[in-house]
Amino acid sequence: MAFSRVALAAAVVLSATFAARAQQPGANFPEGLGKQTVVSVCNGCHDINRLTAGYSPNGWLTVTNMMRNFGAPVPDDQWDTVRAYLIKSFPERPRPPAVIVPGPVQVDIHEWPLPTPGSRPHDPMAARDGSLWWSGQLANKLGRLDPATGEFREYPVNPVSAPHGLVEGKDGEIWFTGNFRGFIGRLDAKTGDVTEYQIPDAKAKDPHTLVIDHNGIIWFSVQNGNFVGRFDPTTGAFKLATPPTRNAKPYGMAVNSKNVVWFVEFGANKIATIDDNMSIHEFQLPNESARPRRIAISPDDMIWYSDFARGYLGRLDPATGEVKEWPTPSGPKTQPYGIAATKGAIWYAETFVKPNTVVRFDPKTEKFQSWPIPGGGDIVRNITVSKDGNPVMANSLDNELGLVEVKSGAN
Ligand code: HEC
Repeated sequence: MAFSRVALAAAVVLSATFAARAQQPGANFPEGLGKQTVVSVCNGCHDINRLTAGYSPNGWLTVTNMMRNFGAPVPDDQWDTVRAYLIKSFPERPRPPAVIVPGPVQVDIHEWPLPTPGSRPHDPMAARDGSLWWSGQLANKLGRLDPATGEFREYPVNPVSAPHGLVEGKDGEIWFTGNFRGFIGRLDAKTGDVTEYQIPDAKAKDPHTLVIDHNGIIWFSVQNGNFVGRFDPTTGAFKLATPPTRNAKPYGMAVNSKNVVWFVEFGANKIATIDDNMSIHEFQLPNESARPRRIAISPDDMIWYSDFARGYLGRLDPATGEVKEWPTPSGPKTQPYGIAATKGAIWYAETFVKPNTVVRFDPKTEKFQSWPIPGGGDIVRNITVSKDGNPVMANSLDNELGLVEVKSGAN
């Protein structure tokens, strides 16, 4: 009796083990040397199925460098095996070809490979002294480039901070979001010292983009935590607000000429403002499936957005609530992402085409023009504007910083 109960218990344990094994994430991945390591490690921080998106061999080199930088626990002598397994098992899938639209404007596109392989430059930033910056999200570094000399300097931040958005403060200090550790950081660019201001709500765990308003107040989005935050650098005080929409996923942000703070909701078809009382006012876009990811504001205070999900450039007139949309040249599946308003036009990137493109849209003629990004551009997650008014890009998978030098033909 006792014996059979033990046998039964053993059988139950055994079948539970089999069931667990069958359901183990990645269990259905192709067989091959390295699979075991991949299956046991690559599910640790995110869904393992994101591997199946597939990358070129070079893309996998960057991805594995990024994961290594970020501390994925693969023994040093196993990385080559893991990489070979990934290259063989998950090749890049076909992507839409870029549709290049000719036009009257001349540009030179400059690309600088960054010093640390696999940095994942997420956001670019242009400082008042002419230097260009990036957040090396997975290298846990901020970086500065002097585009005149090509000289780089990298600034380490604390491990696992995953620096994401960055802006320059009034004294030349750099403010950034610690995307994995829930803080707003301040880098003293002279000394390299970093101060962390912890957001006083554990639910606001993934601060994302930040902007600085005309009074020096820092506003930030918290994508998955679903907040918009306000941080006063002189007092260190935080305020948080949750949008009325569930899972709104506040994402890109911008400040208009009258100091109104705008943000887009990537989890909804909405664009919103927030004021000093933390009151949020949402505007709904007409198409249910629209997913605005980034936002730019032109000098006339029109709101422009990249509709990542549907492949549109959109414009919201805040005075009337009227929305106008234009399909992006390369088509619906091409993921318009980083966007900026400068030199009398709207500039944005199509980030799922081969190669990525820079697209210019002239609001007067409503005409597009576009260029392939040398080297592929993958993936332009954000665009900002240099001191001279030129678009600046961070190319996250290509590990490059880019500058679109507008030469002639622009207004
Ligand atoms: C220590 C945590 C961690 C582990 C372990 C980890 N990753 Fe990641 N991975 C990240 C982070 C952080 C990102 C980027 C942020 C995000 O989008 O989630 C990321 C993103 C990715 C991406 C998307 C890249 C991009 O630029 O969009 C791929 C592909 C990926 N990981 C593959 C892997 C593989 C393969 C492994 C196993 C070798 C692995 N990851 C293990 C943290 C990890």
